[in-house]
Amino acid sequence: MRCVAILTAAGSGTRLGHQLPKALVPLGGEPLVAHAARALATSAVVDSVVVTAPAGHLAQFDALFDGGVVPGTGVPVTVVAGGATRQASVAAGLAAAGPCDLVLVHDAARALAGSDLVRRVVAALRDGRGAVVPALPVADTIKQVAVQDDGAELVVHTPPRAVLRAVQTPQGFTYELLHRAHRAGAAHADDETRAVSDDAGLVEQLGEDVYLIPGEAAALKITTAADLVTAERLLSRP
Ligand code: CTP
Ligand code: MG
Repeated sequence: MRCVAILTAAGSGTRLGHQLPKALVPLGGEPLVAHAARALATSAVVDSVVVTAPAGHLAQFDALFDGGVVPGTGVPVTVVAGGATRQASVAAGLAAAGPCDLVLVHDAARALAGSDLVRRVVAALRDGRGAVVPALPVADTIKQVAVQDDGAELVVHTPPRAVLRAVQTPQGFTYELLHRAHRAGAAHADDETRAVSDDAGLVEQLGEDVYLIPGEAAALKITTAADLVTAERLLSRP
């Protein structure tokens, strides 16, 4: 089954606060997006990669994937301009994916997610799951809040922690399901009450099943400068 990975890297990294777009920020001397692309390409289950880049930085991304492959591998890469939101970037990646059976959606921000995680997501898809998401239990108690007119936050609900999971990428889907979910998502893109922050959320809105598999600590999302320090430490660990 042909599997394409969409690697989202078109964000600006506002919270990281670096002069470069986040995906180009170095980690252990290499840009975040290069780490993430290598994990996908060396998994042996990904046939090609589509990278969504900030529209103003396409040349820098093309230079990273000189010859149109992930360096050190024969896995082809296409760089396309992302959109204004992550959802729009994934849609742009999907439009450039070409014919395939399975799609992974991965974030350059999760630069240290390993090839083993990529393989486990694809294995679950090959077992017949339509949507597969890596996840870890949460350590914090999570509150649902209502923000009042004066900005005060009122707690409205505390879900039991045992049923909560923090989800990661790569998230895996059959092409048919992800394509359908994005088409439906685009139809109500202006409806803030239906806004979701991951692709699985769009699949859930279709009423389709999303299955979790165990995630990994290395797949942490690099959001802030402190996360980058954590990732540097993980990388330098023998
Ligand atoms: N992303 C994207 N297109 C966008 C916004 C985000 O492809 N318009 C990608 C980012 O490059 C990142 C992933 O989605 O790999 C997760 O987003 P996030 O961690 O929020 O990254 P940024 O949006 O770059 O960071 P910030 O929100 O702090 O600006
Ligand atoms: Mg963002």
